[in-house]
Amino acid sequence: MVEAVGAGVTLKTVPDTQALAQAAADLICAAVRANPDLSILVATGNTPMPTYTELAQRVQHGEIDFSRVTAVQLDEYLGLTDDDPRSLWSWMQRSFVAPLGITRTVRLHTPEEFDREVAALGGIDLALLGLGPNGHLGFNEPPSPPDAPTRTVTLTPESLESNRVYWDGLPVPTGAVTAGMNLILSARQTLLLVSGAHKRAILRRTLEGPQTPDLPASLLRGTALTVLADEAAWA
Ligand code: F6R
Repeated sequence: MVEAVGAGVTLKTVPDTQALAQAAADLICAAVRANPDLSILVATGNTPMPTYTELAQRVQHGEIDFSRVTAVQLDEYLGLTDDDPRSLWSWMQRSFVAPLGITRTVRLHTPEEFDREVAALGGIDLALLGLGPNGHLGFNEPPSPPDAPTRTVTLTPESLESNRVYWDGLPVPTGAVTAGMNLILSARQTLLLVSGAHKRAILRRTLEGPQTPDLPASLLRGTALTVLADEAAWA
């Protein structure tokens, strides 16, 4: 079902996580077909994983070619070694870059270098995002104004808690670096993936509450935003 919820925002609801993966993969493949040199800002986290698996299957079946796409890292923890399994770079490699046969990447090391590399690419064509339980985007924690730049941040207790499930008992790093709100909001197209009943209240506020730095995801309204949600998240 497709609903329009105000200027620029298209909300599409689907029955479950599998249908979400299909619908998201359809949109991403259409964008890659329209522009094989697409630059994509890539979220990790749990929500997009079924979508990445679906995309990998389509690549394997020869339905789509990501070899000219550039994958741009959205965020990273600070203080981890390269081979630490918790690094979001390695998670993006395992789940997105390697299975899709992507050879062009922009890694988020230092904000300055990252912003330079993204500018040289001509900016972000498609931002693939998940919705933080507190409304964060990447690691843009509340409050993050629209002009918040790419920068290092300290994670909120809420984000430390929500990240704990990824790492099976290992401590969650408290520092991170994130693509700025300014970069995220400048993407030519944004796809926000939301699944599960635990995201229901924050998704409502994101789409229908006040647009405020206290809920960074609400600032996506007014950009070319498509929200794909399963029925658990948008009943
Ligand atoms: C991950 C990221 C985070 C997640 C968000 C939702 O790279 O930047 O902002 O997108 O915390 O996480 P999940 O999908 O695990 O609910």
